[in-house]
Amino acid sequence: MQTAHLASDENGIAEAARLLAHGALVSFPTETVYGLGADARNGEAVAGIYAAKGRPSFNPLIVHVPDIAMARNLTRWNDAAEALAEAFWPGPLTMVLPLAQGHGLSDLVTAGLPSVAVRLPAHRAAQALLARLGGPVAAPSANPSGKISATTAAHVQEGLGGKIAAVLDDGPCAVGVESTIVGLVETPTLLRPGGVPGEEIEAVLGAALTRAAKGQITAPGQLTSHYAPAASVRLGATQAREGEVLLGFGDIAGALSLSPSADLIEAAANLFGHLRRLDATGQPIAVAPIPETGLGAAINDRLRRAAAPRD
Ligand code: TXA
Ligand code: MG
Repeated sequence: MQTAHLASDENGIAEAARLLAHGALVSFPTETVYGLGADARNGEAVAGIYAAKGRPSFNPLIVHVPDIAMARNLTRWNDAAEALAEAFWPGPLTMVLPLAQGHGLSDLVTAGLPSVAVRLPAHRAAQALLARLGGPVAAPSANPSGKISATTAAHVQEGLGGKIAAVLDDGPCAVGVESTIVGLVETPTLLRPGGVPGEEIEAVLGAALTRAAKGQITAPGQLTSHYAPAASVRLGATQAREGEVLLGFGDIAGALSLSPSADLIEAAANLFGHLRRLDATGQPIAVAPIPETGLGAAINDRLRRAAAPRD
């Protein structure tokens, strides 16, 4: 794949929005760092983010919105969110809130969690792109997994060129560090320090932020708050044992299949939804073997966590 270089003019933004709407990956500038965007409602497009970054696990991603109204519709918005949005949006602040009914987001975006991180970037081209698409865009930083975040279109080309449809170029990012992430699901918590200082957030809230324990943010996949099925999970199963319900892949059919054609992108997009559906049967879940290549590594990582003994 040739990664198109788009200027941030009218035409470039229209083309970037068209690509996103068709499920392609487009890197775009924000005031913090370049994001690697996909339509957050399209599971296969979101799975493509993990494939392009070579991420070994599924972490929840930030959903970028063109206006506060969309953030209110996607979440169960609250007074703290309203106050912080008024003070800092658009800007480098991300808020984690409970998901609203009928939100329409792929559950790969939230890694199966009942909450979502929303952000309204203070960047002309990012806002124009989001408005033109008229929908939510999932976007982690546009760098290969384990590498430094990209703050210019050239960095993006260096790291992801050939793996994504396009990069929308609007010069270097102003902030250079990622957005501050505040959890507003329970007591306001600083989940990741970033572009907006924690003290300024505390001043607006009129209360101290709980600080997340060290290590949580660098390894969010390890958080116990991550989705795990209630039922026991057995991996590498070629058939269901007595009482089990089988999650298939490729030639192994099962009650549901992650991908009958053994397509790992399709499997990733189906992962959380299918686990939830089988979990609802109340039966133990057996899962067909998934190859460890490409996105298979992230799928297996998530499945191994689901299968691990619980406290
Ligand atoms: O500045 C930024 O925020 C950049 C630009 C591109 O906007 N984006 C970015 O996104 O850094 P990302 O996807 O790399 O950040 C994801 C982090 C996760 O590691 C996790 O810590 C947190 O956001 N997060 C997302 N959803 C969450 C949730 N439901 N609960 C807790 N943390 C969440
Ligand atoms: Mg990142």
